[in-house]
Amino acid sequence: MYQVIARKYRPQSFAELVSQEHVKTTLDNAIHQQRIAHGYIFSGQRGTGKTTVARIMARCLNCVSGPTATPCGTCASCREITAGGAVDVIEIDAASNRGINEMRELRESVRFRPARDRYKVFIIDEAHQITNEAFNALLKTLEEPPEWVVFILCTTETHKIPTTIASRCQQFTFRSVEFAELVARMEWICKEEGITAEPEALAVLAQAGEGSVRDSLSALDQAIACCGTHLKAEEVRALLGLFGLDALDQVVGSVERADATRMLEIVAELERSGANLQHFCRELARHWRNLLVARIAGAGTRLIAASPNEQQRMAELGARFSEEDLTRYLQITLDVFRDLQYSLQPRLHMELGLLKLVHAAKLTTIEDALAGLGPAPAPVPQAAPPRQAPPTPVADAPPWDAAPKPVAAPPKPPPPKPAAVEPGTLKARMHTALSEAGLTFTADGIESSLVNEGATEVEIVAPEELELSLNEKELQQFLIKLGVQKRLRIRFQASVDAGPSKPQAKSNSDDEVTTRAMAHPMVKRFQETFKDSQVRQVRNLKE
Ligand SMILES: Nc1ncnc2c1ncn2[C@@H]1O[C@H](COP(=O)(O)OP(=O)(O)O)[C@@H](O)[C@H]1O
Ligand SMILES: [Mg+2]
Ligand SMILES: [Zn+2]
Repeated sequence: MYQVIARKYRPQSFAELVSQEHVKTTLDNAIHQQRIAHGYIFSGQRGTGKTTVARIMARCLNCVSGPTATPCGTCASCREITAGGAVDVIEIDAASNRGINEMRELRESVRFRPARDRYKVFIIDEAHQITNEAFNALLKTLEEPPEWVVFILCTTETHKIPTTIASRCQQFTFRSVEFAELVARMEWICKEEGITAEPEALAVLAQAGEGSVRDSLSALDQAIACCGTHLKAEEVRALLGLFGLDALDQVVGSVERADATRMLEIVAELERSGANLQHFCRELARHWRNLLVARIAGAGTRLIAASPNEQQRMAELGARFSEEDLTRYLQITLDVFRDLQYSLQPRLHMELGLLKLVHAAKLTTIEDALAGLGPAPAPVPQAAPPRQAPPTPVADAPPWDAAPKPVAAPPKPPPPKPAAVEPGTLKARMHTALSEAGLTFTADGIESSLVNEGATEVEIVAPEELELSLNEKELQQFLIKLGVQKRLRIRFQASVDAGPSKPQAKSNSDDEVTTRAMAHPMVKRFQETFKDSQVRQVRNLKE
């Protein structure tokens, strides 16, 4: 008869148990010192060894050569416990036997000495599921337990165990099992089973287990059933409904090359293959996260659940981006993931999201720009001594007043522009309404567009690249909501100067400071670096 791997390889001794060192040592000591408690609570994630340890404990207590931390495994007690038929080891699944009657029976049974063995061990699985009445019945026995009784309550939810019970028990918390330990356990089992596996395949299975040995082993079972005696990573990924690393890498590559066209093709391919876009997005987020962690912690970190090869590859990939960039991509991807949960148009959201990644990639970070402001590339031939050393670190920049008076008359600088969205205007009202409705993409779009309100018509002049995010019908509805009964039209054009057209009047002295500031070499370089930047305000620090 075929036995599932998880059951076939249930550890029979502490030595075989993976992880849970603190549980092993404490129980080992307790047994050596003959200090056996009457009640234990084993809590922790599913599939981490609670039931397993409870049975090992029963063997330790009842083995003919016991009590011992290393039961023989061959005596009648040991064998019967493994097979699940020992008279003095009673397993109760509280999920199905949660009633008072069962507990009453249990209370009766507790009163009698063990039939053959040293202890009567009650293992109560899913203990949080027993009813209050049943807990009360249990409490009675725990208050005055006969010397031969040991209760082991196993639960994934300790907080549901009444404190009156918990305070009479010793508690052990089972930890989620680490990725490397899961992989090692599966490697060993595969060898026993005569199965070969690509390291990456086992990594994927371990990852799927999310800290639960049982879940990893169930996935392993499934993989063997599907792929046979040699497990290939790509097949296993597909089996678990994961996307090929290939697709994820292509997104990363397109971000790196700022290739918007390829990005849209990727979405089209995903759609064509019937992929769930939200799943894809979640995996993409996980991928960015891993690249970010690899970038920060380097290859070989325990913080990434992946094989050494894969980690190496991630570290190399991550090194091509800055930490800030990766953080930004992760954030954007998480936003898209969230949006996709409610979206009736997943494809559009996905496209928009991936395009945002491409755009984000094009943005220079302020740090990079400032670093670039360092020693200016010499505008004069190398041989000539620099007329004036350019200010190197930004912090040391002289105040505006100390700026050298320009030798030649500087070209008239553009007047400083106030904030792009002036309060009170129709544009501002639309911006607020859209933001409040959660349409942040659209709100951002309005911010960088011109809004011209005519007698019968409202015209929006928007930059071309916003064609995807501004929807005429949607905006028309917002206008009506704002009480503006005018027809709305959107025009898209290559570049839009979204600032209000009327420059603010400035006093003479302000003008002079402004002129000097605008002529400052650092300001000029800043403007060259940030092509579309505006100087919105010049403050005289002397004032
Ligand atoms: N710590 C562990 N070491 C080795 N195998 C484990 C461990 N935890 C769980 N397993 C495997 O998972 C299966 C289920 O474990 P179990 O003890 O029933 O988990 P729990 O009771 O915590 O849900 C076991 O049969 C065993 O194969
Ligand atoms: Mg269990
Ligand atoms: Zn034994």
